[in-house]
Amino acid sequence: MEFWVNEIFNAISYAGLLFLLGGGMTLIFGAMKIVNIAHGTLFLVGGYVGYVVWRYTGNFFFGLLGASVVVGVIGMILERFLLRELSGQLLRQMLMTMGSKDAIAKLALAVLDPGDLAVAPVPGYPTYNIGHVFAGAVTCQVPLRKENRFLIDFDAIPLEVRRQAKLLWLNYPNNPTTAVAPMEFFQRAVAFGRENDILIASDAAYTENTYDGYQAPSILQVDGAEEVAVELFSMSKAFCMTGWRIGCMVGNASAVAALNAVKENIDNGSLRAIQFAAATALNQAERLIPPINEVYRRRRDLVIDALNANGWSLEKTKATIYVWAPVPERYEGDSGAFVADLLEKTGVMVTPGRGYGRWGEGYFRISLTYPDEVLAEAMGRIVEMKL
Ligand SMILES: Cc1ncc(COP(=O)(O)O)c(C=O)c1O
Repeated sequence: MEFWVNEIFNAISYAGLLFLLGGGMTLIFGAMKIVNIAHGTLFLVGGYVGYVVWRYTGNFFFGLLGASVVVGVIGMILERFLLRELSGQLLRQMLMTMGSKDAIAKLALAVLDPGDLAVAPVPGYPTYNIGHVFAGAVTCQVPLRKENRFLIDFDAIPLEVRRQAKLLWLNYPNNPTTAVAPMEFFQRAVAFGRENDILIASDAAYTENTYDGYQAPSILQVDGAEEVAVELFSMSKAFCMTGWRIGCMVGNASAVAALNAVKENIDNGSLRAIQFAAATALNQAERLIPPINEVYRRRRDLVIDALNANGWSLEKTKATIYVWAPVPERYEGDSGAFVADLLEKTGVMVTPGRGYGRWGEGYFRISLTYPDEVLAEAMGRIVEMKL
């Protein structure tokens, strides 16, 4: 019996040493895993010390005592000094926000000076430009074109703009075009930010609203992304918590500090009860998100199937809570005329693409945030209009 217990302790000690080595390496290269590694390592060191004490005193309980003292004392030191310092470092890379709109507008105030240049995609969420206006900065609009799968074409951004710009906005999965971006796109974005010393702000409002097994990548998955990029996440769309006003910005520590400086002088953040609600939702994300997405997927199918049965040929969108479609041919690309006509004849309101900037012209957007019956009724009326 003693032989086997010995062997097990031996094995644990060797595993412990290996774990220490491996853990140390991971610790140096991947700070995110710090907590698990620190705790795992602690127990293995405890096991090793316990084994040695037992072996040399011949008393099993002394061994246990030794192991407990090591786990207890080193654990306390780790917790008090090392982990706190390291989690402090991580905390310097994240900031709670009152949703992403809050962060978008205030990040512009935080990192732009009057006269600075910032790049925003068009069609795009209007608050990027509004933030620049409030900061006294100038927006350089870059087009999202269908032929480029509505992705930003970094190579087409003029040299002068690359030299001057301080901030560049990305938004994938995209509102309003519903486009999604592959990992290579984010790699290119990080490289572009690094080459040109531009802060890349990735608005990730819709990363969790995905369908048919698609998973949206994060810019922070790119190696070294936190040197030049931040990601803005929101609880609004993923958890249907729009009115709660809570989200976060994660990534580049100086951008986080700058946004924090603006925010602590303007808003003080979200109510604590809302923070707890958000934490609870995040801890149950795997259970909460799929049924929400199932509702949007059903509505997406309802809308796209109706349009495709009546002259459109739209692909099923992989993400977001919208459908983006070209206006019928007889409106000759005039989204305003189409939307006005539709409203007048059917009482159905859709959003004209031109509302998202000049390269949004020629399209309209349908939101999937209405109940199925309302959407079905609206689609019926649109179809009856004999588009
Ligand atoms: C692309 C995009 N970013 C940000 C937001 C803002 O969302 P919130 O402030 O609710 O997080 C929206 C809302 O529609 C959006 O479409």
